[in-house]
Amino acid sequence: MTSNTAQQDAAVADKSILANSAYADGRHLAARQSIYRWQQPQYDLPGIVVEELASTSGIVLDVGCGNGKFVSRLHNERPDLQVVGMDISAGILADVEKPVLVADAQALPFADDSADAVLALHMLYHVSDIEATIKELARVLRPGGVLIASTNSDADKQELDQLWVMAAGDILGIPEGPARISLSSRFSLEKAHGYLETAFSEIRVRQLPGTINVTDSAPIVAHLASYEAWAEQCGVPFEQTVLRAREITESTIAEEGSFEIKCLGGVLTCRP
Ligand SMILES: C[S@@+](CC[C@H](N)C(=O)[O-])C[C@H]1O[C@@H](n2cnc3c(N)ncnc32)[C@H](O)[C@@H]1O
Repeated sequence: MTSNTAQQDAAVADKSILANSAYADGRHLAARQSIYRWQQPQYDLPGIVVEELASTSGIVLDVGCGNGKFVSRLHNERPDLQVVGMDISAGILADVEKPVLVADAQALPFADDSADAVLALHMLYHVSDIEATIKELARVLRPGGVLIASTNSDADKQELDQLWVMAAGDILGIPEGPARISLSSRFSLEKAHGYLETAFSEIRVRQLPGTINVTDSAPIVAHLASYEAWAEQCGVPFEQTVLRAREITESTIAEEGSFEIKCLGGVLTCRP
């Protein structure tokens, strides 16, 4: 696990960085999503959300919907639902199936008790006041509605954190460089339950452990490079570190046949 400085935590929740750089379009998010193609076992996250919404009808708000992976699956498999995709980035919403809204999870443009389900998938670690945002999600949810949240464990992809420290150390000429900024640590799987129980009384956690094995450095390089929006927070020249990480990954693959990454994500299904 890498632990962020206060300045790094503020950058992870900086709306200008999020909307204008990190998620200005779907490129960086897609790079992080695509590494799961090499994970075993495979988890169908949109399929899990469809399953969790089996008894839901009516309005579903996908808050922080990103490139719309979950929105499009719901449109296809549950055309009876009214799905609204929302994000603070207008750019990333461009290709998401309508209706979509540019909206901040911290102040949703919806009345109290107006949604039958709310999705907050891999996004609560990006809001500055996590507890207040969870109250806001609960506010728009009708009694008996469901919130589905997801995030990663502090133990997720530690091999990439170690790779970064090694590459950054090589660039700086020291044994270990500064830790990679962590996106999910503010609302990691370990912290999520504690936050969510401030507004929800029934919380079911589904853990999704897996192992990624790649025999080509490209998906790893793309994953590391997807943190470009936070390059200033790295304490090491960003591009050079990514290039050095590529060399280390390629030597590991040449020596060991593959580069292995242990993953741990989780989905939390919450009812008031
Ligand atoms: C890691 S992506 C997750 C996207 C999608 N939910 C998924 O799981 O594939 C986080 C998304 O949350 C959005 N986001 C961050 N802070 C937000 C906020 N305060 N309100 C609404 N969206 C936000 C980002 O712009 C980004 O598209």
